[in-house]
Amino acid sequence: MELQQGRRSILHRCVQSGDVFHAGLVITLLLGVWYAQALEVNTGKVNFVEVMNGSSVLLPCTYSSCIGIKNLYFNWQYKDNGTLIKLCEAVIPAEGIEPHVKIYHERVVFVGSSKDSNISILLHNVTFEDQGDYICFAINPKEKGRNHSAVFSLYVVDELKEVDNTLTIIIVSVLGGVIGLIILIMVVKAVVLSVLNKVQEKNKECLVSSSGNDNTENGLPASKADSKPTPKA
Ligand SMILES: *[C@@H]1O[C@H](CO)[C@@H](O)[C@H](O)[C@H]1NC(C)=O
Ligand SMILES: *[C@@H]1O[C@H](CO)[C@@H](O)[C@H](O)[C@H]1NC(C)=O
Ligand SMILES: *[C@@H]1O[C@H](CO)[C@@H](O)[C@H](O)[C@H]1NC(C)=O
Ligand SMILES: *[C@@H]1O[C@H](CO)[C@@H](O)[C@H](O)[C@H]1NC(C)=O
Ligand SMILES: *[C@@H]1O[C@H](CO)[C@@H](O)[C@H](O)[C@H]1NC(C)=O
Repeated sequence: MELQQGRRSILHRCVQSGDVFHAGLVITLLLGVWYAQALEVNTGKVNFVEVMNGSSVLLPCTYSSCIGIKNLYFNWQYKDNGTLIKLCEAVIPAEGIEPHVKIYHERVVFVGSSKDSNISILLHNVTFEDQGDYICFAINPKEKGRNHSAVFSLYVVDELKEVDNTLTIIIVSVLGGVIGLIILIMVVKAVVLSVLNKVQEKNKECLVSSSGNDNTENGLPASKADSKPTPKA
């Protein structure tokens, strides 16, 4: 009875994920055939990150299993010049039960949650020595001790890298400025041309109106009319 329930929840989980591969896995399981790749650990689509020294960085890792987990053991290791240094480790008794994580590094904090099958850690105050490969390792005893791991690479950079960005920004700004200037010149040109046209039209109007109302207006229009006729006539 218990086994059947387990199977149903597995089916539910796998159908929810919408993964054809996993659905196939469930069918295989229902047929009673043990499948080798039951557990997966994953450090995400982009398995590297570049951070500035002094900042904090998330080292992501998640797991998924279609046969369910029981006493899942996991740890994080740092590959320091070939030797593996354990950063933390824990056992997740069952799905949804939070692990009690033992931490062996003073700047590591466990931020995962078994509710999300998340076993990510946070590394604080990154130094240049922290650069390298971080291995997320897991064993699901349900699979007779088969190991699973995923690697996440950390690159630590100095603020100097920012200069490259600044240079790009400068180039982009200059290009943008030049384009903007060209547009501005075109706009100014259009405005000047339209103003000139208007002035010319006004002059024409002035000529017409002044010739029409010569006697009633004796201020500026008259004088303008006096000054302009020579080129027009
Ligand atoms: C990063 O390293 C550079 C060079 O060693 C240093 O000058 C700078 O203060 C460091 N930044 C932080 C936030 O630790
Ligand atoms: C890394 O390994 C090389 C060769 O084994 C050794 O010469 C070097 O000192 C090591 N570096 C550190 C930081 O342990
Ligand atoms: C990180 O560095 C800051 C300032 O140096 C310090 O206050 C803080 O306790 C450090 N955090 C950890 C986790 O070491
Ligand atoms: C895992 O948990 C951390 C901390 O809550 C979060 O920042 C991260 O996005 C989570 N990763 C995934 C894949 O859900
Ligand atoms: C699994 O990992 C453990 C601990 O790292 C190791 O002792 C064991 O040999 C590994 N087993 C396999 C099949 O790789």
